[in-house]
Parts: sequence; C-alpha cells; structure tokens
Amino acid sequence: MLNIVVLISGHGSNLQAIINAIDSGQLNAHISAIICNKANAAGLERARTHNIPAYLLQKHKSQTSEEYDLRLQEVLNNLKPDLVVLAGFMRILSKNLVNQFKGKIINIHPSLLPKYRGLSTHERVLNAGDDTHGCSVHFVTPDLDGGPVIAQASFEIASKDNINSLSAKVQLLEHKLYPMIVAWFALERLELNDEQVFLDGTLMQQPYLME
Ligand code: GRF
Repeated sequence: MLNIVVLISGHGSNLQAIINAIDSGQLNAHISAIICNKANAAGLERARTHNIPAYLLQKHKSQTSEEYDLRLQEVLNNLKPDLVVLAGFMRILSKNLVNQFKGKIINIHPSLLPKYRGLSTHERVLNAGDDTHGCSVHFVTPDLDGGPVIAQASFEIASKDNINSLSAKVQLLEHKLYPMIVAWFALERLELNDEQVFLDGTLMQQPYLME
C-alpha cells in the first residue's frame, strides 16, 4: 500500500480530504505520519483525532534552513514514504531534499500554474481582473511552484467574488483534486520522467483538467 507522509503548517483541510478519501475507500493508501512545522497548526489536531503519528518539527532560531532541512530529510528517510504530500507546508525545501524525492513529492497550489507562483494568489488574480481561477497539483522540483503540473481544477470568477470567496471556492476544488491525484499514485498511474509527467505510461501534453 502507498505509504504517504503529509507535510502541513496550518489548517490541514487538504490533509483532512486525503484522510476522508482513505476512510471512504476512494484512496488505497496509508498515512504513516504527518510532519508539521507550527505548534499551533489545527492540522495537528486532525492527526491526533485519526491516530496518525505527528512530528512537530519547528525551526529553532539557532538553526539554519539547511540544518532544518537535513533534520526533515532524516525524519523522512526514517519514514521511507512512497509519496511526500505537501499540503500547505509553508517552507521552501532545499534542493538537496527535493532532488532526493524527485518524482515522489507533490504540492497543491492555489492558482492555475504557471500563473501566480508564490503567495497571495487570490489577491493577485483579482487585481489582474482574470476571468478564471483554480488550483494545481504539481511535482515539486527545486524551482519554487515551477515543477511539472499534473492536474488542475478551475472555475469562473463572479463579479462579486472577493479574496474570501475565491479562497473558499479554490479549497472546495482542492479537496476533490488532491485526493484524486494521490489515488493515481496509489494506482501507480503517474510518473515523472525527464521533467515530464506520464499518466498510464503516456506523456501528458497538458495538465489533466478536472471536471
Ligand atoms: C491550500 O490552499 C493550498 O493550496 C496551499 O495552502 C493551503 C493549505 O490549506 N498550498 P490547508 O492547510 O490544507 O487547509
């Protein structure tokens, strides 16, 4: 069974969506642990509720980012995940760590990549006057939010939308899209080869668009 480790920093609603997909039998995987870098993250409570081991890995002031990532890498290596799932983990991972898990580490991002890498995506979408918005699941590479995109889900922006409503609409889609893509991994349908995504052995010319 696919051994997943989920990395979070906050609310953990995507973690919950993955837990729910496992519980309902839609996803044949096992979350061996959650790693969190924030002591007050609500996602930690979700881990407790579901009896999932949680590692609180905070960065100490005296620690450099490299040292923190080495510690994170050590914890991950002990857990031996088949797939590392970034679900709102608010740290930039070192090149070394990302390369070690290349093809086995994915992220969900609240924009239609390659548009709006980085933070404040909803605000930037509104400022640009875009017609559509959504979320993307991508393989993680050392290029921040720049790894090959696997799948996306989108919606039309309404004239009355604001940052909060966009955030809520994006999250609704994320909670469907992310478990679905993790399930593809569990079924061994996805592969990263030479910076390109293969689904069922066929090169994906463009990201899968969820209906
Ligand atoms: C999500 O919107 C995701 O796109 C971004 O961080 C947020 C995490 O939300 N990377 P949650 O902690 O899963 O509720």
